[in-house]
Amino acid sequence: MTTLTKTEDAAAPTGADPFLSVRDLYVRFSTEDGIVKAVDGLSFDLERGKTLGIVGESGSGKSVTNLAVLGLHNPRATEIKGEILLEGQELTGAREKTLEKLRGNKMAMIFQDALTALSPYYTVGRQIAEPFMKHTGASKREGRQRAIEMLAKVGIPQPNLRVDDYPHQFSGGMRQRAMIAMALVCNPALLIADEPTTALDVTVQAQILDLLKDLQQEFGSAIILITHDLGVVANTADDLLVMYAGRAVERGTVKEILTEPRHPYTWGLLSSMPRLTSDVTELLHPIPGTPPSLLSPPTGCPFHPRCTFKAEVGGTRCADERPPLAPGRASACHLTAEQKQTFFIEQIKPRLG
Ligand SMILES: Nc1ncnc2c1ncn2[C@@H]1O[C@H](COP(=O)(O)OP(=O)(O)O)[C@@H](O)[C@H]1O
Ligand SMILES: [Mg+2]
Repeated sequence: MTTLTKTEDAAAPTGADPFLSVRDLYVRFSTEDGIVKAVDGLSFDLERGKTLGIVGESGSGKSVTNLAVLGLHNPRATEIKGEILLEGQELTGAREKTLEKLRGNKMAMIFQDALTALSPYYTVGRQIAEPFMKHTGASKREGRQRAIEMLAKVGIPQPNLRVDDYPHQFSGGMRQRAMIAMALVCNPALLIADEPTTALDVTVQAQILDLLKDLQQEFGSAIILITHDLGVVANTADDLLVMYAGRAVERGTVKEILTEPRHPYTWGLLSSMPRLTSDVTELLHPIPGTPPSLLSPPTGCPFHPRCTFKAEVGGTRCADERPPLAPGRASACHLTAEQKQTFFIEQIKPRLG
């Protein structure tokens, strides 16, 4: 396999040691067709009690990044380089035993589809109790009590009865709540929610996001909220990382990115969002083209083949030169700061209404 070179990507500035720190992360899969460069030099930080939203189209490397944090990739088919520091503890290359102790305990994950996370053969209560018993040494009785308590916390009515139900006896929204209960049962300091509301209807979506916020207040967890939907992070996340083709293309607070986005890809994401401003859903402005193959990603800026602003940069710079992501509030794009501001105000903002 080729040796990996460091990127110019700098870390987010956070002063003291952050709770979670990912530095220059690469994740590559060996497949029959070649090497998939799923994550390509990614850096971000997350503080305790904060929520980081990671957004990007399907296939941009969001799930792969977070499975790497949890140590869930198959080591035989995956090459992982870079640093993943959880309270200073290095997780890349950590032993499976070490990771197992952390998973479900210090860090936990909520998936898009509760049906794949919950077993059909065991009661909901037993599945919530299990990580609690495993990590705390609690008895069966204490585990059951804890499961009832958690079901109540996530808003399941009559938790002392529902604890003995099987997953198929729960509605979709209730299963998602049960999975959240299971993820939070050991009070994890880091919660990774991967498209947690994508499969749910809009009303239930809002309830689940509110629930996550409430639980975060109570438990003080740091949350990574992965989504392809900017609407989901708008009211939930503090900071935002926009990903494209395995790289971070823009970073900032949610407010900064929603009010003053600086990367043409982020402009595309915002412009293609459906919005209900009046009685009708306004026409969308989809991003032209399709995401690149990660078997042979584009040279230079990975977004350049789809970017309508590359002529403004001039020459073949966008195809030749990979734009770095500076520290802090930043976007990885060769346009000048002035161009980014002008183009956004004159061309993009009017579309957003
Ligand atoms: N185990 C794997 N083997 C090979 N390719 C993979 C594997 N897992 C994910 N990929 C590829 O990595 C890229 C990023 O995937 P993923 O992180 O799941 O995207 P998303 O942003 O939608 O969560 C995709 O091109 C996907 O096909
Ligand atoms: Mg995904």
